[in-house]
Amino acid sequence: MAGDSKAEPIVSVRDLEVGFQTMDRRATVKAVDGVSFDVRRGETFGIIGESGSGKTTIGRALVFLLKPTAGTILHNGVDPQALPRKQFQSHRRDYQIIFQDPNAALNPRMTIISSVLEPLELAGAGTKAERLARAQDAMERVGLPQELGERYPHQLSGGQKQRVIIARALTLRPKLIVCDEVVAALDMSIRGDVLNLFAELQRDLGLTYVFITHDLSVVSHISDRIAVMYLGRFVELGPTESVSGRPLHPYTQALLSAEPLPLPSTMRSDRRIILQGEMPSPIDPPSGCRFRTRCQYAQSVCAEQTPAWRELEPDHWVACHFADRPNFSPS
Ligand SMILES: Nc1ncnc2c1ncn2[C@@H]1O[C@H](COP(=O)(O)OP(=O)(O)OP(=O)(O)O)[C@@H](O)[C@H]1O
Ligand code: SF4
Ligand SMILES: [Mg+2]
Repeated sequence: MAGDSKAEPIVSVRDLEVGFQTMDRRATVKAVDGVSFDVRRGETFGIIGESGSGKTTIGRALVFLLKPTAGTILHNGVDPQALPRKQFQSHRRDYQIIFQDPNAALNPRMTIISSVLEPLELAGAGTKAERLARAQDAMERVGLPQELGERYPHQLSGGQKQRVIIARALTLRPKLIVCDEVVAALDMSIRGDVLNLFAELQRDLGLTYVFITHDLSVVSHISDRIAVMYLGRFVELGPTESVSGRPLHPYTQALLSAEPLPLPSTMRSDRRIILQGEMPSPIDPPSGCRFRTRCQYAQSVCAEQTPAWRELEPDHWVACHFADRPNFSPS
């Protein structure tokens, strides 16, 4: 579902910063450093970037598993942190997060049905019979036969375990789910099935997703819009077709060109751009444009000035001094 760009956003993030103290407490890692975006109701908002770019930190902050250092996050126009504690707890149930590793998320000593029931029990939702009915309905929705309910996690396949995690999140009937690398631990052969399940659930239940991954083929398969993240900041954001078909930022261009061939032809660039070197440390990021130490187009201004966040095409934003120059794009 494309999401309604005119409706009030389900999540609205402004100037978000999240910092962590280093182990020796001498410095701060700004894992997220000034990010603003809206998530539109009913859309899948993809976030892509290399390891350590800050994707999980954003995801955790979106559902208030982490407290922002600065900036605001509104849910449906409301700041959940301003709510009284009880209301905040119940509000949080509408905004769920699912992580990569289903093994870590499932208690090995609990049966599957007990795991699916657990969030409902913690929330004190309905009667015992109603809770069981809701848990069984969630299992059915994710394609898990009821008889698996009596099994333990080690008796299930990786794909089945991830379905259990999805069912657990669904029992609380959330409005939004942050999916953090949810297919990364799965065999290639079943990734497609699980991604299709996400799409089906979105259609049936009107869900909104924030889909975090470092896998471009996954994010472009499922997302309506894609945000590209580098060293704590967004460098590009736009509709999936524009970002993948005509990437404006050199980092996005490099990510796309580095992708192996299974991508659709529209998303492949003829010229391969190899990303040189490692991402610098977020403790001491480069001045100006953070990508400049790896950018083949870098000029002196790139070290001196932080590129502005500009809407160069409808709904398509980029932070690069030269993204609007003709012949800039190598594709
Ligand atoms: N609890 C923490 N304490 C200290 N530093 C942290 C903490 N969590 C994350 N960081 C640092 O913040 C930065 C961003 O981490 P984050 O986990 O958000 O990246 P990511 O994009 O999700 O990476 P990956 O693709 O590997 O999951 C990294 O430099 C990481 O080391
Ligand atoms: S601002 Fe400069 S260094 Fe940054 S991406 Fe653009 S050209 Fe490269
Ligand atoms: Mg992560």
